[in-house]
Amino acid sequence: MEKMTDDEALNILEEILEIKQLNNVQKIVFCQAWSGQSYMQIANAFDYDYSYIKDTGSQLWQMLSTALGQKVTKLNFQSVLKHYAKHRESQFASQSAFYRPEVELLESSPSPNYSTLSIDEDETRWVGRESLVDALTEKIKGISRVLMLVGITGIGKSSLAIRLSLEPAIAQTWPFLHVIRFDAEQQTFEQFARLLLKEQMRSDFELEHESQKLVIDLVNYLQTHPSLLLLDMIEEILETGDRGEFHYKDPLFAQFFDRFIQVEPMPSRLILTSQDRLPVIAEGRYLERSHLEYLKGLNPDEALELFGSWEVYPQTDEEREYLQRIVRVYEGHPLALRVIAGEIRESPYNRDIQAYWHDYGEEIVTIEQQQIASDLRSSADSVTLANYSINLTDLVKCRIERTFIRLRVSSPLAYILLCMGATYRCSVERTAWLLLIADSPKEAQIIAFQTLQRRFLLETDSKAGRVFYRLHSLIRSIALQHLVNFKPESLL
Ligand SMILES: Nc1ncnc2c1ncn2[C@@H]1O[C@H](COP(=O)(O)OP(=O)(O)OP(=O)(O)O)[C@@H](O)[C@H]1O
Ligand SMILES: [Mg+2]
Repeated sequence: MEKMTDDEALNILEEILEIKQLNNVQKIVFCQAWSGQSYMQIANAFDYDYSYIKDTGSQLWQMLSTALGQKVTKLNFQSVLKHYAKHRESQFASQSAFYRPEVELLESSPSPNYSTLSIDEDETRWVGRESLVDALTEKIKGISRVLMLVGITGIGKSSLAIRLSLEPAIAQTWPFLHVIRFDAEQQTFEQFARLLLKEQMRSDFELEHESQKLVIDLVNYLQTHPSLLLLDMIEEILETGDRGEFHYKDPLFAQFFDRFIQVEPMPSRLILTSQDRLPVIAEGRYLERSHLEYLKGLNPDEALELFGSWEVYPQTDEEREYLQRIVRVYEGHPLALRVIAGEIRESPYNRDIQAYWHDYGEEIVTIEQQQIASDLRSSADSVTLANYSINLTDLVKCRIERTFIRLRVSSPLAYILLCMGATYRCSVERTAWLLLIADSPKEAQIIAFQTLQRRFLLETDSKAGRVFYRLHSLIRSIALQHLVNFKPESLL
């Protein structure tokens, strides 16, 4: 995205709002937010009350939302203004011609098995991934009808999906946004279709005889109502087959995706998030119409920005180094870092990074030492990375535990492989992984390994034309805890 100064942005804002001048506080909040400052930073720097600054900001975004007819927040106002500036000379010749779509959010769910995501920009505090947002926006606007965001739990899939839906180029092209999260035990295609078709579906509809028609009706609906569907946590509607491959519990979903990708024209778009590899759509015949994005952690600069967005700033070089070490050990995992940032920010640490390090730095040092240790394997490594503090236990560990439980239930051998693989301290070749379960038949070993790959539980490093596999540090720490609970005989 091209650079725009805060003065230029301010001019555009005043033009959109059709006011001659903002008041002083509004100007301060706008210009400081433009350069990436949090409300807390602005309040401190200009000696104002935090809630006053926050309310001023909210008012500004609300005024912009009303003027432009789209949801504007602290999260997306920069992209919105840049987009406006870019287009006002061309198709948006005057403000009155500015496209004013209505963004419809499925606020409440008529079915207890589905819930909707709330878009809370204050809690998300998005940082980084700018070039990825730009690239994915281009894909969605182009021929990618289905965008799949995959990766381990907490890596930022849902947040990215929401961030994308707020991107002006997307929000304006697809005025209707439906956000659906799959999160219960039983989910059927019929419930999903009802959510979208609403009153268009007869109440005496009989799925047994009319299931094909339901798929056709829903695809027709999406052909005639250009919509953006954000389907979150697709892993909940998947199950594994004999060979570890994933398919939909309700086969109508597969028919729906197949048809969605095939028909012409298709003005709607789907963004899916999943911890598991999604089943191939339409036997891979329309590969160019879908895009799979495997999400990794934030880079070191983005991660420091994340701490900043939670008002945690290093005051000394030493503190900066502490944060950098935390980021490295957690491999930029946004959920874990966000939880740690929240902890440092609150009592008793009150933004004192040094004090936090005094309490928990040892945990980080231990992991660092293990990473450079000379022995390749150890089952006695520290296991606390995901739970040395209460918040990490409640917010990070429990999410990862859910991933483990799903794996243990559906693929016991893959679960054993995961736990035993955690004894490797660095990445090793596939053969070394298979050796861990050498007692099982070869076929079963291969399926177990593939299962971990399909669930994105193996990180890869390529060196000298060879691929090496390892676990993410957070996954490894939980896997080692599970290993402790194994009976010795089941390890061999
Ligand atoms: N780019 C980002 N900037 C700031 N915070 C982020 C970013 N990405 C993720 N986060 C934070 O990390 C947390 C976890 O992200 P999110 O819930 O999107 O993960 P997920 O991949 O959807 O996990 P799950 O598979 O468990 O649903 C969120 O609470 C969010 O606040
Ligand atoms: Mg999610």
